[in-house]
Amino acid sequence: MPVITFANTKGGAGKTTAVLLLATELARLGFRVSVLDADPQHWITRWYENSEGLLGNRLNVVPYVTMSTIDRQLQEEKARADFVLIDLPGSRSSLLAKAVGYADYVLIPVQGSAMDAQGGANVIELLHYLEDKADIRIRHSVVLTRVNSMVTTRAMTAVKDLLAARRVHLLETPIIERAAFRDMFGCGGTLYSMDAKRVSNLDKAQENARALALEVLKQIPAAQYAGAPSLRSVA
Ligand SMILES: Nc1ncnc2c1ncn2[C@@H]1O[C@H](COP(=O)(O)OP(=O)(O)OP(=O)(O)O)[C@@H](O)[C@H]1O
Ligand SMILES: [Mg+2]
Repeated sequence: MPVITFANTKGGAGKTTAVLLLATELARLGFRVSVLDADPQHWITRWYENSEGLLGNRLNVVPYVTMSTIDRQLQEEKARADFVLIDLPGSRSSLLAKAVGYADYVLIPVQGSAMDAQGGANVIELLHYLEDKADIRIRHSVVLTRVNSMVTTRAMTAVKDLLAARRVHLLETPIIERAAFRDMFGCGGTLYSMDAKRVSNLDKAQENARALALEVLKQIPAAQYAGAPSLRSVA
């Protein structure tokens, strides 16, 4: 079952937020999803403790994933889930190399800034290294995060130009800066258990998460997750 690793060596790029959005959305579509939480801040584990029972138990979170436990935890989760998502710390580490090496698809969240783009470039360098030295080719894309819904900044345009020049695949769907994406961590729950009267633009946040999940699904060969109960509802 496909493993999707989220990586950027720059802290705060939006990895954990992207993992939670994709995990909850895939579970909502009917897939069984496991998240391996290797982020030392344990945000997804804490979110899970506040959100038990949601999504028909299709979402499982494995806490305290480390260099010495990831092999076993990954094998266990691959056996029971349709998708395994890995949330990494924002630094270079041997855990990052391992989690990238295990991935079927690597998603690189990048905010529209040169510093974030450099953190993403470090991950792309590692992917090229695996390809050159070990002939391991792992599909990967950048997803732009915390994008302002109203204006395109100059920094964002520069990052897009850089990615195009280096022929790095960029998802068409950016993750927009939304209060709802922050509130999920504060209060627990999903974009569908929140109160639309209290959270601004909740409908747009839901639309954004859905578009992200559908685009990510298109990047992964369907044969790798065929048999999942929800496939018909995705089509
Ligand atoms: N799309 C978004 N809308 C609103 N806030 C966001 C969004 N993406 C990220 N944030 C906020 O930005 C901060 C950093 O995001 P996040 O924790 O997802 O990054 P990270 O890459 O996982 O960080 P770390 O490297 O420390 O693990 C958090 O406060 C988060 O709530
Ligand atoms: Mg994180």
